[in-house]
Parts: sequence; C-alpha cells; structure tokens
Amino acid sequence: MSQQAVNSEVLKVLAERHSVKEYQAGHKMPKEHLEQLLLSATQAPSSWNLQHWKFIVIEDQAYKEKLHPIAYGQKQIVDSSVVIAVLGDLEANKNVESVFGPLVAAGHMPKELKDTLAGQIEGAYQHPQVPRDEAIRNASLAAMQLMIAAKALGYDTCPMGGYDAARFAKEFNVPERYVPVMLISVGLAATPARGSSRLTLDQVTVSNTF
Ligand SMILES: Cc1cc2nc3c(=O)[nH]c(=O)nc-3n(C[C@H](O)[C@H](O)[C@H](O)COP(=O)(O)O)c2cc1C
Repeated sequence: MSQQAVNSEVLKVLAERHSVKEYQAGHKMPKEHLEQLLLSATQAPSSWNLQHWKFIVIEDQAYKEKLHPIAYGQKQIVDSSVVIAVLGDLEANKNVESVFGPLVAAGHMPKELKDTLAGQIEGAYQHPQVPRDEAIRNASLAAMQLMIAAKALGYDTCPMGGYDAARFAKEFNVPERYVPVMLISVGLAATPARGSSRLTLDQVTVSNTF
C-alpha cells in the first residue's frame, strides 16, 4: 500500500468517527481488540513522555450497572461492550525513573540528560496548576487515540464528561493520585450517530496572531 493510501485511510477513520449512543447490547469485545485499543492509546505523545494516563476497563455488567446512575443514566454505559474510564496522573513526575531509567541502562540516553530532564520536571511540578493541567492534557490525547483505534477496528465510541466525577472516584476507589478525565463507551453500533456539524475553519482559525 502506498504511503498516500495509508494516509487517506487514517483521514477516513477520523472523518467517520462520531459519538454513538446506541450499541448492540451483550456484545463481548475480543481480548485482542481490547488490548489493541489500550496499546494504541498508550502510543499517544505526552509531556516528557511521562505518560500521564491510567485506564479503568469496565467490562463486567455489574460494574457498568453501578456506573450507570453515576453517569446520569446514559444508556451507552450499560449497552456498550466496554467503558474505559480515562484518568490523568497528577503525580506523573514520579514516572521519571520508570520511563528514563531503562533508556539509560540500555545506553540509549546519557545519564546527564536524564538528570537534566528530571530537574526540569521537578521544577515544573512545583507550579500548582501544572500537575492537573498535564494530567488532563496528556490523558486526553490518549483518549483520542483510543477512540480512533476503536473506529479503525470497526467499533464506535462515545466520550463522556457527563458523569459525577467525585462520586465515580469514590465508588470506584480511584486513588487521590488520579483525576477522572472522561469515560469512553466502546461497542458495536446499533444505531448510527446523530449527525453533528462543525464550525467552519474561518470560525476556528486565526492567521498568525490575534
Ligand atoms: C469531553 C467530552 C465530553 C462529552 N460528554 C458527552 C456526554 O456526557 N454524553 C454524550 O452523549 N456525549 C458526550 N460527548 C460527545 C459530544 O457531544 C460529541 O463529541 C459532539 O457533539 C460532536 O459529535 P460527534 O462526536 O458525533 O462528531 C462528549 C464529548 C467530549 C469530547
């Protein structure tokens, strides 16, 4: 397949992704598809490669039922094959050793560079808004990749911010270290997504500077 053809496939998937709310209830996603979704999500870029994401994979019907009222009764929670709760890591600065240590050990990164990066990261994380901004920003990139990978595998998704995040954290025992970012339902569509429009490029673009 030519490079041109590969790129157009990606663009097609991007254009065809829409938020599906009605799924074929009872469908179980094969393990290899679920793993592919999560793997694609973790291939997202992240600040300093700190990988500020954590995923709760909610597949058991009993847990979906528990989540249902927390997400204000949104039906996609119970009918989709799996709901992925995307969390952001407020303490991703603690990942320095596990991310950079193996690179240094393998001779792919000089220890001095690792120490420089570690210093930058610690400096940045002193600012009170940084942990939360970074957690949400980077976990959101992973969430987007997961939705695109799902579409490429023949599934549909719906990102959801409509849920009680504090109650979710409490009832799903989310440690303080993580902030809930969004829920994503994934499954086989029963009904296509309702049409959605976009603002024009003129409306959303500024040339060079405001
Ligand atoms: C952060 C975020 C939160 C959202 N929350 C919900 C939600 O709680 N329930 C819902 O049905 N759709 C939700 N949506 C889906 C949006 O309504 C949808 O993406 C938008 O209308 C554009 O439609 P499309 O995704 O089908 O192109 C959310 C989308 C995003 C990105």
